Amino acid sequence: MQIWIDTADVNAIKRVAELGVVNGATTNPSLCAKQSNKDFKAMVKEICGLVNGPVSAEVVVPDFEGMCSQAEMLSKLHENVIVKVPCTNEGLKAAKYCKEHGIKTNVTLTFSPNQVLLAAKAGATYTNIFIGRVDDAGHDGMAAVEESLQILKNYKLETKLIAASVRSVQHAQQAALLGCHVATIPPEIIEKMVKHPLTELGLKKFKADWEKSGCKME
Ligand code: G3P
Repeated sequence: MQIWIDTADVNAIKRVAELGVVNGATTNPSLCAKQSNKDFKAMVKEICGLVNGPVSAEVVVPDFEGMCSQAEMLSKLHENVIVKVPCTNEGLKAAKYCKEHGIKTNVTLTFSPNQVLLAAKAGATYTNIFIGRVDDAGHDGMAAVEESLQILKNYKLETKLIAASVRSVQHAQQAALLGCHVATIPPEIIEKMVKHPLTELGLKKFKADWEKSGCKME
């Protein structure tokens, strides 16, 4: 499973990218709004310089023509930019346009296997299940991931599924167990995935035993 970092915080991206586990990044208007840098194009270019892989940048207009024009502009910022379009009638048409014009897309704000199927048929490079938000609505986000993967497999659709709105280390682990292609994960959750209490305890014991032993490394 590819691990993408779900943030527009360049300091967090720098910190986590150093671990060597990050294959891409996703932003959205809400994540960008939290940053002090208000120059969106500069922000996207900076993230592309930090992450060696796909970087999702979202259109912010509702109409087909506007989405296509923003998609053209965003895709020219860097070869790794993937354009996020929402799963609306206009967004699906824009995904089809992008496919025909060689622009990679991430069809977003997708919460059901049916939306995943339509995004794939429209030519999306990637689409999502927003696990946390589906759970928040009282449904089962992980079941939607499993069913979406099955649909993509049934019809040999090329679109890759992203587990998004990941809120816990369990979400990340379950997505990997299901064989999800990508999980886009907030930096603080990637950092939690590194940790295990037995690792900490084990380290303390190794250190204490080593110090008592009189062993030398060199
Ligand atoms: O990748 C989509 C993600 O950013 C949404 O997460 O926590 O706002 O539902 P959340």
